[in-house]
This record gives sequence, structure tokens and C-alpha cells, in this order.
Amino acid sequence: MAESSPSTFLTSLPDNSAPLSLEGEVLNCRAWRMPDLVVYQHGSEEWWVCPLDEELPIIKLNRMGAALLAAMDGTKTVGALMSQFGKWVCSPTGETGRWHLEHWALPSYSLCYYGTEPPTGHSAEARWDLLLQRIRERWHQNAPQEHERHLSDFHLHGIHEQHGHFEIIETTVSHLFREPSAALHGLTYGRMLGKALREMGWFHPRPKRIVEVGGGLGYVSKELAQEFSPQERRAIAYTFLDITGPFLESQTRLAREAGWAATAIQANAEELPLADASVDLLIDNENLADMTPVHLTVEELTSGTSQQARHQRALDLIRHLRLPLDTPVPETVILNEGALRFLMEIWRVLKPGGKALLIEFGIETGWPAPVKLPGHTEYEVQFSHLRHAARWLGFREQYCALPQLLAIRGDMQVLCTGAAYAIRRFCEALDTPFSVRAYTHDELQEALGTMLPKLTGLHYHRVLDPAWFGLWDFKVLMLEKPGGMIQRPVYRETKGFRWYQQR
Ligand SMILES: C[S@@+](CC[C@H](N)C(=O)[O-])C[C@H]1O[C@@H](n2cnc3c(N)ncnc32)[C@H](O)[C@@H]1O
Repeated sequence: MAESSPSTFLTSLPDNSAPLSLEGEVLNCRAWRMPDLVVYQHGSEEWWVCPLDEELPIIKLNRMGAALLAAMDGTKTVGALMSQFGKWVCSPTGETGRWHLEHWALPSYSLCYYGTEPPTGHSAEARWDLLLQRIRERWHQNAPQEHERHLSDFHLHGIHEQHGHFEIIETTVSHLFREPSAALHGLTYGRMLGKALREMGWFHPRPKRIVEVGGGLGYVSKELAQEFSPQERRAIAYTFLDITGPFLESQTRLAREAGWAATAIQANAEELPLADASVDLLIDNENLADMTPVHLTVEELTSGTSQQARHQRALDLIRHLRLPLDTPVPETVILNEGALRFLMEIWRVLKPGGKALLIEFGIETGWPAPVKLPGHTEYEVQFSHLRHAARWLGFREQYCALPQLLAIRGDMQVLCTGAAYAIRRFCEALDTPFSVRAYTHDELQEALGTMLPKLTGLHYHRVLDPAWFGLWDFKVLMLEKPGGMIQRPVYRETKGFRWYQQR
């Protein structure tokens, strides 16, 4: 039999969770369990592992099943494992070794890998990446048809619950750091953001109206509150603007609890229902990738014309903003049209001297790529386009990477987010509270107590390691609309001395 390369074998896996047929060349493949698989020992004779697909139930193993998992170390073939474990019951729920061997290598389970070559070294990452990619493709198939309005449709109609959304569907950096973290010097994401803005002088003069766009559950506002005295908070109008109805309740609740005079508007930020020159400070955290993309062909870009009205609008925008485009242009490209329109709206609604803070993951050259998430697809933000448009509009702009703004402690090690998702599932099954966060070892110990020693396979990354959450890919765009009144120091001069007065 000709040896199949691991990639050949992987691409032959079925798309859905129909069991793998254990015959022919599969039997000669060797089996490797997923590296760093998190295993929870529930009792002296019971172990749990999580399939990658959230919709599949936790896999429960008895001692025989745990031995099967342990035997998947790359030394035995699937055929040998079938002979040794196939007919034995391997789960407290009655599944045999055959059932497990038929399911675990499916992309939706991703508990192990079958191939002729070990998934080690460089190729190992490629193989596991392929598996994960297949899962995302499947999510993608589940997503409503990905037309250019699919993102606003998803946010308007596809989100029904609040908290679980950021734990499962799209975990944001600010969600991971919503509680005090050693990696942020014992503070939270929102708190560090507030400190950075204060140091930059953004709270002087004190903003009268703050608008937070796409505030998620509202944690940033809660933490930002600590930068202001109770009287100051009451005097500032804090407005949330979000397209997703179910999030507005949590946003206003957390903000009011934190002492803000908070109100909410359900709207699409690409057309802000706010008056011209009415906002002092606008905050938009991890939302730009959710805004409308337009897919343009190279012909449309070079000719500047399109039959489709939406595309023509995007082409007109490119011309209007004199956007410099990277060449050669691929066959089709994605333009962050919604984000560019939002930027123009920010220019319109900010008062002279008003400021805006935009944070999102993105790129600086080339064209945005889609990022597939459960139920929807987001798009990298092309920050050179945004920065060019900002300058063209007249903004003063500053730009840096998120770890710089937040002064993240790069030496800290935090739990792999995959492990955090697995623990969340175990805790859910145990009816024990646990939420997904960026845990250091000590923080995890505090959160889990006696459960921690029952978990194996936990691993930690340096917080700024690209393999953790890719924090360097998150960029910060800080904008100021010129024309604000410059606050000059107030003093009185007598006999050559200046007497300064504190305001
Ligand atoms: C990825 S979440 C980020 C939430 C929060 N800022 C955080 O950091 O956790 C994106 C947020 O933007 C909102 N959103 C998405 N598209 C939007 C749009 N076009 N207009 C207004 N809000 C939008 C979502 O409902 C959600 O609250």
C-alpha cells in the first residue's frame, strides 16, 4: 500500500461527525492524541475530555478508555488499538473502544490524529491547524449565507444571550482581562485603558459626553468609572451605542452600578444617530472587525466602476478618500468599508477637540482576510487604510500596538485559552461557576481550588507569545479632531513673579 501523507489523509476526513470507517489504510495509520489535551479526573474510575465542537457532549472514560487515550502516543496503529480496545466498553456511558476510535479523529472531536507521519515539529502545527481550520469551515457552513450584510444581520438577529456569547462565540481581549490580572499589574483591561487615557491628557478638560460603541457586556465602562470622582461621573452623559439589543441591558446595568448617568441606543455605528459635533470622547473596543466588508474584484478596483450599487459606493469611497492601494491587487479583495464609514461618522459627531479610541486586531499591509467564528465571519482591519482615511479627514492620529498601550507584563505566563474553554465545559457539567479569563497559575489555583490537581494537560504561554492570543495583532488608533480650546495656565503677574491659579 502506498503511504499516504498526513495531509492527504486529513483531507479525506468527512466534514460532518459521521463515524470514520475503520478499514483499509486507516488501520495502518498510527494514532497520536491531541497535544496538551486537558483531562479531568472526575472520580477514581472516571476521566473526562472535551471534543473541540461545543455542541458535542463531554467524552467520559472508564479505566479502559483512559488506557486507550494513553496508548495513542504514536507507537501503535489504529488496527492495533482496535484489536486491543475495540470490543471493550471504554466509557461509563457504554461506548466501546471501536466507537471512540471511529469518532476521536473527526474534526469535530479533534481528540487525536491518525496518519503515517507524526504530527511533530513544524508539520505538527500545520496538521493541528488543519484540523482546527476544518472545524471553523464547519462553523462557517452553519453560518447564514455570508453576504455583505451578514454581520449586521448576525448582530441584529443571531445573538440571544449575553454572557455566554463572550465565553464561547467570540472571546475578546477585554473580556479575558475583565477581572484584575497579574499580567496587568493587578488591574483590569478597562482600568489600564482609563489610566492610559488619563496619562495622555484625554480627561482634561473633563468630557461632558462619552459614547461607547460596541460595548459588549459593559465591563470597560465599569472600570473606566474609577478614573472619575462620583460627582464627575454623574455630570458626564455616558451613552452606549450597540447594534445588538440583548447587550444594551448589561451595558447600562454595569455602567449605572458604577455610577455613570448611562443611556443606550440600539443602532448601527456605520450610521451614527448622533448630532454633529456632540461627542467629547468616543470609545470603540474590538468592534471594527464586525463592520461591513465589501468584496471587490480586481476589475472593479482598476476600472473604478461596478454594476452593483454597494460596490460602486465602496469604489467611490476609495476615490473620495484617495486610499493608496497595495499592488499587485489579487483577484478579489476585501475592503473594510463599514469601518471607513464609521470613521467618517466619528469625524462628524466629535466636537472640535473631541477624541476617539479605536482598538481592534488587524494588519498594516495587504488586504484583510476573513476570520471565521461560530455563526459569523469577521474581517481583519487594514489599519493603513484607516490611518490614511483619518489623516485625510483631518484627524491628528497616534497609533500603537495594544500591549504598549496597556503596558502588559510580557513576562507573565497565562493559561492557554483552549484549556480555559475545556475547564469551563467541565465546570458547567459539574454546575460549578467558572468563567473564561486570562489566568496565571495562581489565579487559576484561586478560581479552582481542589479541582486544579484533578486536571492534567494544562499549559501556559507567555502572555505576549503570538501562540496565546496574538496580542501584538491588536492595534490602537487614537484620534483627535483639531480645534479644541487650548487650556492655558491661569496666572497673575506681580513684580516679575507669576502666581499660578489651580483650576
Ligand atoms: C467583539 S464585541 C466587543 C465587545 C466589547 N467592546 C469587548 O471588548 O468585549 C463587538 C461589539 O460591537 C457590537 N457591534 C458589532 N457590529 C456593530 C455595528 N455595526 N454597530 C454597532 N455595534 C456593533 C456588538 O454587538 C458587540 O457589542
